Amino acid sequence: MNFHVMTLFPEMIEQAMAVSITGRAVKAGHISVNAVNIRDYAANKHNRVDDYPYGGGAGMVMQAEPVYRCYQDIMEQYSENGLPKKIKVIYLSPQGKVFSQRMAQEYADEDDLIFLCGHYEGIDERVLEEIVTDYVSIGDYVLTGGELPALVMMDAISRLVPGVLNNNLSAQTESFSESLLEYPQYTRPEEWNGKKVPPVLLSGNHKLLAEWYREQSLRRTACCRPDLLENAELSQAEWAFVQEIISKEGSDR
Ligand code: ADE
Repeated sequence: MNFHVMTLFPEMIEQAMAVSITGRAVKAGHISVNAVNIRDYAANKHNRVDDYPYGGGAGMVMQAEPVYRCYQDIMEQYSENGLPKKIKVIYLSPQGKVFSQRMAQEYADEDDLIFLCGHYEGIDERVLEEIVTDYVSIGDYVLTGGELPALVMMDAISRLVPGVLNNNLSAQTESFSESLLEYPQYTRPEEWNGKKVPPVLLSGNHKLLAEWYREQSLRRTACCRPDLLENAELSQAEWAFVQEIISKEGSDR
Protein backbone atom coordinates (compact mmCIF):
# COMPACT_ATOMS: atom_id res chain seq x y z
CA MET A 1 0.00 0.00 0.00
CA ASN A 2 1.46 3.33 -1.06
CA PHE A 3 0.03 6.38 0.69
CA HIS A 4 0.59 9.81 -0.86
CA VAL A 5 -0.44 12.83 1.20
CA MET A 6 -0.78 16.31 -0.26
CA THR A 7 -0.38 18.67 2.68
CA LEU A 8 1.05 21.96 3.93
CA PHE A 9 2.50 20.08 6.94
CA PRO A 10 4.37 17.03 5.64
CA GLU A 11 6.35 16.70 8.87
CA MET A 12 3.12 16.07 10.78
CA ILE A 13 2.37 13.08 8.52
CA GLU A 14 5.95 11.77 8.44
CA GLN A 15 6.44 11.94 12.19
CA ALA A 16 3.15 10.30 13.11
CA MET A 17 3.53 7.48 10.57
CA ALA A 18 7.16 6.80 11.57
CA VAL A 19 6.33 5.40 15.01
CA SER A 20 4.63 2.34 16.48
CA ILE A 21 2.95 -0.20 14.21
CA THR A 22 2.81 2.03 11.12
CA GLY A 23 6.52 2.86 11.57
CA ARG A 24 7.35 -0.84 11.66
CA ALA A 25 5.15 -1.47 8.61
CA VAL A 26 7.04 1.22 6.67
CA LYS A 27 10.41 -0.30 7.63
CA ALA A 28 9.20 -3.77 6.64
CA GLY A 29 7.97 -2.45 3.27
CA HIS A 30 4.29 -3.30 3.82
CA ILE A 31 3.30 0.35 3.40
CA SER A 32 5.01 3.49 2.12
CA VAL A 33 4.29 7.10 3.06
CA ASN A 34 5.01 9.94 0.64
CA ALA A 35 4.08 13.30 2.21
CA VAL A 36 4.26 16.03 -0.43
CA ASN A 37 4.35 19.72 0.48
CA ILE A 38 1.78 21.65 -1.56
CA ARG A 39 3.79 24.81 -0.86
CA ASP A 40 6.61 23.46 -3.06
CA TYR A 41 4.22 23.95 -5.99
CA ALA A 42 3.40 27.59 -5.27
CA ALA A 43 3.53 29.65 -8.44
CA ASN A 44 4.88 32.86 -6.84
CA LYS A 45 8.14 33.85 -5.22
CA HIS A 46 6.55 34.29 -1.78
CA ASN A 47 5.46 30.63 -1.78
CA ARG A 48 1.88 31.65 -1.11
CA VAL A 49 -0.74 29.00 -1.71
CA ASP A 50 -3.83 30.79 -0.35
CA ASP A 51 -5.83 33.88 -1.22
CA TYR A 52 -8.98 35.78 -0.24
CA PRO A 53 -12.31 34.14 -1.09
CA TYR A 54 -14.28 35.61 -3.99
CA GLY A 55 -17.47 37.13 -2.63
CA GLY A 56 -15.79 37.99 0.64
CA GLY A 57 -16.09 36.25 3.97
CA ALA A 58 -13.73 35.18 6.72
CA GLY A 59 -10.48 33.31 6.22
CA MET A 60 -8.40 32.29 3.24
CA VAL A 61 -8.88 29.67 0.55
CA MET A 62 -6.17 27.37 -0.83
CA GLN A 63 -5.58 28.04 -4.50
CA ALA A 64 -6.31 25.48 -7.20
CA GLU A 65 -3.04 25.62 -9.14
CA PRO A 66 -0.50 24.52 -6.45
CA VAL A 67 -2.80 21.64 -5.45
CA TYR A 68 -3.20 20.59 -9.08
CA ARG A 69 0.53 20.73 -9.79
CA CYS A 70 1.25 18.73 -6.65
CA TYR A 71 -1.27 16.09 -7.79
CA GLN A 72 0.19 15.93 -11.29
CA ASP A 73 3.67 15.43 -9.85
CA ILE A 74 2.46 12.47 -7.78
CA MET A 75 0.62 11.01 -10.78
CA GLU A 76 3.68 11.30 -13.03
CA GLN A 77 5.14 8.09 -11.62
CA TYR A 78 1.93 6.22 -12.43
CA SER A 79 1.51 7.13 -16.09
CA GLU A 80 2.41 4.04 -18.07
CA ASN A 81 2.31 4.46 -21.87
CA GLY A 82 0.69 7.84 -21.36
CA LEU A 83 -2.31 6.25 -19.61
CA PRO A 84 -2.43 7.27 -15.95
CA LYS A 85 -3.41 4.59 -13.43
CA LYS A 86 -6.74 5.21 -11.68
CA ILE A 87 -5.93 6.13 -8.10
CA LYS A 88 -8.47 7.25 -5.52
CA VAL A 89 -7.99 10.82 -4.31
CA ILE A 90 -9.54 11.30 -0.89
CA TYR A 91 -10.36 14.82 0.27
CA LEU A 92 -10.76 15.08 4.03
CA SER A 93 -13.74 17.23 4.83
CA PRO A 94 -16.59 17.39 7.36
CA GLN A 95 -18.86 17.29 4.29
CA GLY A 96 -17.66 13.83 3.34
CA LYS A 97 -19.06 10.38 4.03
CA VAL A 98 -18.35 9.39 7.63
CA PHE A 99 -15.40 6.97 7.80
CA SER A 100 -16.14 3.44 9.02
CA GLN A 101 -14.42 0.08 9.44
CA ARG A 102 -16.10 -1.10 6.25
CA MET A 103 -14.61 1.82 4.30
CA ALA A 104 -11.19 1.05 5.85
CA GLN A 105 -11.51 -2.51 4.53
CA GLU A 106 -12.40 -1.31 1.04
CA TYR A 107 -9.51 1.15 0.93
CA ALA A 108 -7.11 -1.54 2.20
CA ASP A 109 -7.76 -3.43 -1.06
CA GLU A 110 -6.25 -0.58 -3.10
CA ASP A 111 -2.53 -0.51 -4.01
CA ASP A 112 -2.23 3.28 -3.86
CA LEU A 113 -4.19 6.09 -2.23
CA ILE A 114 -3.81 9.86 -2.40
CA PHE A 115 -5.02 12.07 0.47
CA LEU A 116 -5.63 15.78 0.03
CA CYS A 117 -5.47 17.79 3.25
CA GLY A 118 -7.05 21.22 3.24
CA HIS A 119 -6.36 24.12 5.57
CA TYR A 120 -7.75 27.56 6.20
CA GLU A 121 -11.34 27.78 4.97
CA GLY A 122 -10.92 25.07 2.36
CA ILE A 123 -9.69 24.59 -1.19
CA ASP A 124 -10.84 26.20 -4.44
CA GLU A 125 -13.79 24.09 -5.58
CA ARG A 126 -12.55 23.83 -9.17
CA VAL A 127 -9.52 21.68 -8.33
CA LEU A 128 -11.63 19.49 -6.06
CA GLU A 129 -13.99 18.85 -9.00
CA GLU A 130 -11.00 18.05 -11.17
CA ILE A 131 -9.13 15.52 -9.02
CA VAL A 132 -11.11 14.31 -5.98
CA THR A 133 -12.85 10.92 -6.20
CA ASP A 134 -13.93 10.47 -2.54
CA TYR A 135 -14.97 12.97 0.14
CA VAL A 136 -14.45 11.54 3.64
CA SER A 137 -15.14 12.91 7.13
CA ILE A 138 -13.89 11.26 10.31
CA GLY A 139 -16.79 12.51 12.42
CA ASP A 140 -19.22 15.32 13.07
CA TYR A 141 -16.82 17.94 14.37
CA VAL A 142 -14.59 20.49 12.67
CA LEU A 143 -10.79 20.25 12.79
CA THR A 144 -8.22 22.84 11.71
CA GLY A 145 -6.98 20.75 8.80
CA GLY A 146 -7.09 17.41 7.02
CA GLU A 147 -3.84 15.99 8.42
CA LEU A 148 -5.28 14.34 11.54
CA PRO A 149 -8.18 12.81 9.58
CA ALA A 150 -5.71 11.50 6.95
CA LEU A 151 -3.61 9.98 9.75
CA VAL A 152 -6.67 8.40 11.34
CA MET A 153 -7.60 6.84 8.00
CA MET A 154 -4.06 5.65 7.20
CA ASP A 155 -3.77 4.07 10.64
CA ALA A 156 -7.07 2.20 10.29
CA ILE A 157 -6.25 1.11 6.71
CA SER A 158 -2.63 0.11 7.44
CA ARG A 159 -3.55 -2.41 10.08
CA LEU A 160 -5.71 -4.25 7.53
CA VAL A 161 -2.86 -4.51 5.01
CA PRO A 162 -1.56 -8.11 5.08
CA GLY A 163 1.61 -8.46 7.16
CA VAL A 164 1.22 -5.21 9.11
CA LEU A 165 -0.10 -6.83 12.28
CA ASN A 166 1.90 -9.79 13.56
CA ASN A 167 -1.29 -11.60 14.23
CA ASN A 168 -3.68 -11.28 11.31
CA LEU A 169 -6.44 -12.72 13.44
CA SER A 170 -6.49 -9.68 15.67
CA ALA A 171 -7.42 -7.44 12.73
CA GLN A 172 -10.41 -9.66 12.08
CA THR A 173 -11.63 -10.50 15.55
CA GLU A 174 -11.69 -7.19 17.23
CA SER A 175 -14.22 -4.40 17.61
CA PHE A 176 -16.50 -3.71 14.63
CA SER A 177 -15.39 -6.50 12.33
CA GLU A 178 -18.60 -8.36 13.17
CA SER A 179 -20.45 -5.23 14.26
CA LEU A 180 -19.73 -6.21 17.86
CA LEU A 181 -17.39 -4.55 20.34
CA GLU A 182 -14.39 -6.40 21.70
CA TYR A 183 -14.54 -8.31 24.99
CA PRO A 184 -12.47 -7.01 27.97
CA GLN A 185 -8.80 -8.06 28.20
CA TYR A 186 -6.68 -8.93 31.24
CA THR A 187 -3.01 -9.66 31.82
CA ARG A 188 -0.78 -10.46 34.82
CA PRO A 189 -1.01 -10.21 37.78
CA GLU A 190 -3.98 -12.45 38.49
CA GLU A 191 -5.12 -10.05 41.23
CA TRP A 192 -4.64 -6.26 41.08
CA ASN A 193 -6.00 -3.69 43.51
CA GLY A 194 -8.19 -6.41 45.02
CA LYS A 195 -9.72 -7.23 41.63
CA LYS A 196 -9.40 -10.77 40.30
CA VAL A 197 -9.22 -11.83 36.67
CA PRO A 198 -12.48 -13.62 35.67
CA PRO A 199 -11.84 -17.30 36.58
CA VAL A 200 -12.97 -18.60 33.16
CA LEU A 201 -9.86 -17.01 31.62
CA LEU A 202 -7.67 -19.25 33.79
CA SER A 203 -9.71 -22.40 33.08
CA GLY A 204 -8.02 -23.41 29.83
CA ASN A 205 -11.43 -24.66 28.63
CA HIS A 206 -11.66 -23.43 25.04
CA LYS A 207 -15.40 -23.95 24.69
CA LEU A 208 -16.15 -22.02 27.88
CA LEU A 209 -13.70 -19.30 26.84
CA ALA A 210 -15.32 -18.85 23.42
CA GLU A 211 -18.76 -18.62 25.06
CA TRP A 212 -17.50 -16.08 27.58
CA TYR A 213 -15.86 -13.90 24.87
CA ARG A 214 -19.05 -13.91 22.83
CA GLU A 215 -21.25 -13.09 25.82
CA GLN A 216 -18.98 -10.22 26.86
CA SER A 217 -18.98 -8.81 23.31
CA LEU A 218 -22.77 -8.98 23.19
CA ARG A 219 -23.06 -7.42 26.65
CA ARG A 220 -20.73 -4.53 25.78
CA THR A 221 -22.35 -3.82 22.46
CA ALA A 222 -25.84 -3.90 24.01
CA CYS A 223 -24.75 -1.48 26.75
CA CYS A 224 -22.39 0.88 24.92
CA ARG A 225 -23.37 0.81 21.24
CA PRO A 226 -26.78 -0.82 20.76
CA ASP A 227 -26.97 0.91 17.35
CA LEU A 228 -24.29 -1.50 16.06
CA LEU A 229 -26.50 -4.53 16.68
CA GLU A 230 -28.56 -3.63 13.63
CA ASN A 231 -25.82 -5.06 11.40
CA ALA A 232 -24.74 -7.92 13.66
CA GLU A 233 -25.47 -11.55 12.96
CA LEU A 234 -26.94 -13.05 16.13
CA SER A 235 -28.71 -16.30 16.90
CA GLN A 236 -32.28 -16.14 18.25
CA ALA A 237 -31.00 -16.84 21.77
CA GLU A 238 -28.41 -14.05 21.41
CA TRP A 239 -31.07 -11.60 20.26
CA ALA A 240 -33.13 -12.44 23.33
CA PHE A 241 -30.05 -11.96 25.50
CA VAL A 242 -29.21 -8.50 24.14
CA GLN A 243 -32.85 -7.40 24.25
CA GLU A 244 -32.94 -8.33 27.92
CA ILE A 245 -29.79 -6.30 28.65
CA ILE A 246 -31.09 -3.29 26.75
CA SER A 247 -34.46 -3.35 28.52
CA LYS A 248 -32.87 -3.87 31.96
CA GLU A 249 -29.98 -1.43 31.84
CA GLY A 250 -30.87 0.92 29.05
CA SER A 251 -27.95 2.50 27.25
CA ASP A 252 -24.90 3.46 29.34
CA ARG A 253 -23.69 6.15 26.98
N1 ADE B 1 -11.40 18.59 8.13
C1 ADE B 1 -11.88 19.33 9.14
N2 ADE B 1 -12.68 18.62 9.92
C2 ADE B 1 -12.72 17.36 9.40
C3 ADE B 1 -13.39 16.15 9.76
N3 ADE B 1 -14.20 16.07 10.80
N4 ADE B 1 -13.18 15.07 8.99
C4 ADE B 1 -12.39 15.14 7.91
N5 ADE B 1 -11.74 16.24 7.52
C5 ADE B 1 -11.90 17.35 8.25
